[in-house]
Amino acid sequence: MRLFLDTANIDLIKQGVAWGVVSGVTTNPTLVAQEGISDYESVIKKICEIVPGEVSAEVTAEGKDNMFEQGLAISKWHPNVVVKVPCTVDGYEVAAHLAKEGVKVNMTLCFSPNQALLAALAGAYFVSPFVGRLDDISTDGIALIEDIVDILHIPEFNTQIISASIRHPMHVLQSAKAGADVATVPFKVLQQMMKHPLTDAGQTKFMEDWHKVSGK
Ligand code: G3P
Repeated sequence: MRLFLDTANIDLIKQGVAWGVVSGVTTNPTLVAQEGISDYESVIKKICEIVPGEVSAEVTAEGKDNMFEQGLAISKWHPNVVVKVPCTVDGYEVAAHLAKEGVKVNMTLCFSPNQALLAALAGAYFVSPFVGRLDDISTDGIALIEDIVDILHIPEFNTQIISASIRHPMHVLQSAKAGADVATVPFKVLQQMMKHPLTDAGQTKFMEDWHKVSGK
């Protein structure tokens, strides 16, 4: 399973890529607003220069014709850009239209296996089931990933599954075990995944012993 960062923060993205573990980025209007960014195009182009893989940018236009036109324009920002379209009634049609034009689409705000099936049938490159937001309403988010993996992992479908709305390292582990292609994680979760108290204690002891024997 690959890891993407779910942020529009340039410094955090640079760090994730420097660690060698992040191969893509997902953004959404909320994440962009959190960074106080008004020029979405510039920031997405900047992110594309930093990360080696796909960068998702979401349509914000309303109405299917406007969504399609905006999606087409976004797709031209950079070869690595993937256009995020919501799993709404208009969204499926927009996604299908964009896919026919050769645009890579990430269908987002997916909360059911049937929505994922429709995203795949519409020709989406990615579908993004939201694990944490389901857990928030006492519904098993990881079970959704398992269902979608069962449904989409047949040769007829090429749609990759991005496990999204990740809240903690267990969501990442469970997404990987369930067979998600990608987990998109907040920076904090990436940091939590790196840490283990036995690693820190072991490294401290190794260095103490080394200093003793080397006299340095
Ligand atoms: O990028 C979409 C998704 O990951 C949002 O997560 O934490 O707002 O539910 P969250």
